[in-house]
Amino acid sequence: MAFFEVKNLSISFGGLKALDDISFEIKKGEIYAIIGPNGAGKTTLFNCINGIYKPNKGRILFKDRNIRGKKPDKVAKMGIARTFQNIELFNNMNAMENIMIGRHLHMATGLFRGAFLWGKNSFAGKEETSHRKKVEEIIDLLDLQSARNKFVGGLPYGTQKQIELARALALEPELLLLDEPCAGMNAEEKQDMIFWVKDIQDELGITILLIEHDMTMVMDISDRILALNFGKTITEGTPQEVQKHPEVLRAYLGEDDGECAA
Ligand SMILES: Nc1ncnc2c1ncn2[C@@H]1O[C@H](COP(=O)(O)OP(=O)(O)OP(=O)(O)O)[C@@H](O)[C@H]1O
Ligand SMILES: [Mg+2]
Repeated sequence: MAFFEVKNLSISFGGLKALDDISFEIKKGEIYAIIGPNGAGKTTLFNCINGIYKPNKGRILFKDRNIRGKKPDKVAKMGIARTFQNIELFNNMNAMENIMIGRHLHMATGLFRGAFLWGKNSFAGKEETSHRKKVEEIIDLLDLQSARNKFVGGLPYGTQKQIELARALALEPELLLLDEPCAGMNAEEKQDMIFWVKDIQDELGITILLIEHDMTMVMDISDRILALNFGKTITEGTPQEVQKHPEVLRAYLGEDDGECAA
């Protein structure tokens, strides 16, 4: 059984083929990276996987179940979480509350409902306590203690990216999709992010599908890489194989816009 598989996936917007016959497979426990220049179709691929876009053709199999065309909440419930290229958090809520939102799929009584009204010994109260415990574990893992009670809007950019990651982890996914986790970060924040992504793979055993322009990160932590350009596959392989591929060098590194570290 393949853990995750994309087969002959295609999607067009008007006359533009954003993804054209894409196929690949991810093994459980891997960090699998997608690289490619701006507009290559990377985010579109994530949007097809998590149900925001409906592909025109192809299959998306998660643990042998076809998830193509399923709605985002269904896909999340099946164990696939994601972060977004542009941070999507509630600025007027604190970090803890934002991360708790990631738990809502696990809540029998609904988000926060009842927990405060019925007291901590009620079913809802106990459920709330267990969810908070889980969230505290994630806060510890990602070193977010100092941010937990602060409004997200006022926190540094790097911390907001971490909170997005924490919210995705709160869903307890088996597969985590990260769309440019290092974008806009300074060198120190990048180092921390690389460390946490490795930790998530090693300690939590979560499989990771990673989109990232930072070649240092991609080459450092990926098990395998898929390179796209104009919606098509250029090549797939280990970091050593992919970084030598002439078309990757031309199509991707040739377009160096300052974001690439290699
Ligand atoms: N909803 C949409 N409607 C029309 N065109 C779209 C839509 N979503 C994506 N596209 C187009 O599909 C192509 C791929 O876009 P996508 O966002 O997937 O690129 P990307 O590889 O993630 O690029 P970047 O590195 O800049 O984030 C682009 O030409 C984009 O304009
Ligand atoms: Mg993108």
